[in-house]
Amino acid sequence: MANDSQYKIASRIVATRGVREYRATIEALVTAQDTVLEIGCEWGTTTKLLTERAGQVLGTDISAVCIERGLAEHPNLDLRVLDAFDLNAVLRLDLRITKVYMDLSGLSGYRGLLDLIALINNYSTLLQPDTIVVKSGALKHFAQLCQPWPEQR
Ligand SMILES: C[S@@+](CC[C@H](N)C(=O)[O-])C[C@H]1O[C@@H](n2cnc3c(N)ncnc32)[C@H](O)[C@@H]1O
Repeated sequence: MANDSQYKIASRIVATRGVREYRATIEALVTAQDTVLEIGCEWGTTTKLLTERAGQVLGTDISAVCIERGLAEHPNLDLRVLDAFDLNAVLRLDLRITKVYMDLSGLSGYRGLLDLIALINNYSTLLQPDTIVVKSGALKHFAQLCQPWPEQR
């Protein structure tokens, strides 16, 4: 028997393939009312584009080397070291996040798909953003194959 409570996440999931699609969503989806968390920001190239549209943006990456380079290139960006899987640290950010941008190396192919879906589920549950934009060709391909069966009453 299906457990209905596991389907309560409400975030819209936008799956993109490649960095061009990932960045193209910014103009379409992000507004000045948004507080955006990017996970896997590398040295902040997309974070900078997000900052041009959103009210507040925080870029995070597991690599201290990337964050150091990002801060050297863009001293005005808020870039911090954070492991995307460290959910306690994510909660400690204590921000009312409206949009999450997710671009993690190793999770964009089919082999990482289950981990990626689990992570999306965690972020949606914990932060309750209206939208999670994910750079994953595998997730986009999988989503295109899915068709929700119409509910029968
Ligand atoms: C393709 S790059 C991101 C590019 C960036 N989003 C952009 O648009 O310019 C992927 C990044 O994911 C980061 N990453 C990998 N595993 C991570 C994790 N567990 N937590 C946070 N960042 C992670 C890597 O350090 C790398 O910088």
